[in-house]
Amino acid sequence: MPGLLSSPVCLTVIWFLSLSLHPSCAQIWTDEVSGVQYGHLESNVTLACGKSQIRTPVVWHLNHSSALPWHKVTSNGTLVLLQVDHSAQGIYSCYDARGLLLHSVKLRLGHSPGLLSVSCQVPNHTHVRCSWVDSVRTFLPAQYNASFKGNSLEWRPCVVDVARKHCDVDHPAFWQTSHTLRVTETNALGSLITFHIVKLHKLLKPDPPESVSVKELEGYPKRLVVSWKFPSSWPQDDAFPLVFHIRYRPQGSMHWAEFYSEESPVVVLDALAGHLHQVQIQARDEVDAESQWSEWSPLLLMRPWEAYTTTTEPTEEPEGTFPEKPETSTAKTHNPVIEGEGNLGLVILLVLFSVVLLITVPSLIYVVWVRQRRSDHVTKQELTSMVKMKSMPI
Ligand SMILES: *[C@@H]1O[C@H](CO)[C@@H](O)[C@H](O)[C@H]1NC(C)=O
Ligand SMILES: *[C@@H]1O[C@H](CO)[C@@H](O)[C@H](O)[C@H]1NC(C)=O
Ligand SMILES: *[C@@H]1O[C@H](CO)[C@@H](O)[C@H](O)[C@H]1NC(C)=O
Ligand SMILES: *[C@@H]1O[C@H](CO)[C@@H](O)[C@H](O)[C@H]1NC(C)=O
Repeated sequence: MPGLLSSPVCLTVIWFLSLSLHPSCAQIWTDEVSGVQYGHLESNVTLACGKSQIRTPVVWHLNHSSALPWHKVTSNGTLVLLQVDHSAQGIYSCYDARGLLLHSVKLRLGHSPGLLSVSCQVPNHTHVRCSWVDSVRTFLPAQYNASFKGNSLEWRPCVVDVARKHCDVDHPAFWQTSHTLRVTETNALGSLITFHIVKLHKLLKPDPPESVSVKELEGYPKRLVVSWKFPSSWPQDDAFPLVFHIRYRPQGSMHWAEFYSEESPVVVLDALAGHLHQVQIQARDEVDAESQWSEWSPLLLMRPWEAYTTTTEPTEEPEGTFPEKPETSTAKTHNPVIEGEGNLGLVILLVLFSVVLLITVPSLIYVVWVRQRRSDHVTKQELTSMVKMKSMPI
């Protein structure tokens, strides 16, 4: 068994232990309080005319009508419905020969629980949610009880949400390679346990990055600035680093260009000038190579900065002519580092700055010198007046 459990092929192998009631009892489940009797579909269902032995012949009605599905009535007045289907459901009443109501019961039909098809999501290291769907439609309300355990650990409850058919475990023992989830489904016709192997490391899959934004970079017709935040369900902690996978392409192109980054923001350097681009990001645990990539963030559309023709100043494209083909298909990976393509502008700026400096500094020095002389004079006057005020009686 341990060999079977650790085999990855058997990750989703589910085996079960049937806790169904003894078959002869399982066909009938009488709820005395509510007056509901449950029966298995496609079986023979026996309805007794009350508890006491009836000697006289009885008449059975379904929903106050004498039209009954395929059936037989035994000598003691018991009604046996043969090979029932959904149409046999309803309220059954038996009457004595004089038309007196002896007994009435509501019949509900369905199936006992079948195996559950279980899947688990692990959005971070402190949370597991397992959901299930019935492999067999039972047509009957069910209760679920679930527990979870790592190898050689105690069973602990997995907190069930009956309506949504899932359960949650907080702080699972992540250092354990394999865990087992046990879900018991119980309905009026029986009970069944489904076991499911959970490999937390392989299921670890962050939610997509949040607050993703793509912006143009003024003056750079081939650049886009992409920024994002950690998914809010992931701890904002250096102990749990994420790696991000960014992809982008001009709208209409078949090929994505892509690269990886650990930090936001990044600058795309080879966008196709003048074109709308699609951008998406996904995330993965950086440490755990077995873990899964998140879903892609929603598609964002952005056009790089463009030099508008209305501008009077001629705008220069620092990188010369544009390639006819999108660079995205060739440039697969690169470092998002800003290149020194604005050098000419920088030189002009520096020269202007120096000129301004040369003119302003001497004039500033002069102004300061003049002010200093004046203020020295004023301070002397102030001091003498303050001394006078302090000595005035209040
Ligand atoms: C139901 O009853 C009929 C007639 O008594 C019998 O032939 C049939 O085998 C029964 N079916 C089941 C599933 O018990
Ligand atoms: C009898 O009534 C129930 C509702 O109480 C309904 O679901 C069922 O279809 C009815 N059966 C027949 C045979 O009319
Ligand atoms: C669920 O199972 C646990 C352990 O098997 C048991 O202690 C608990 O009472 C059960 N809860 C329900 C609602 O059946
Ligand atoms: C882990 O994910 C769950 C479910 O999304 C969330 O409730 C919980 O706060 C997350 N834990 C951390 C540490 O972010």
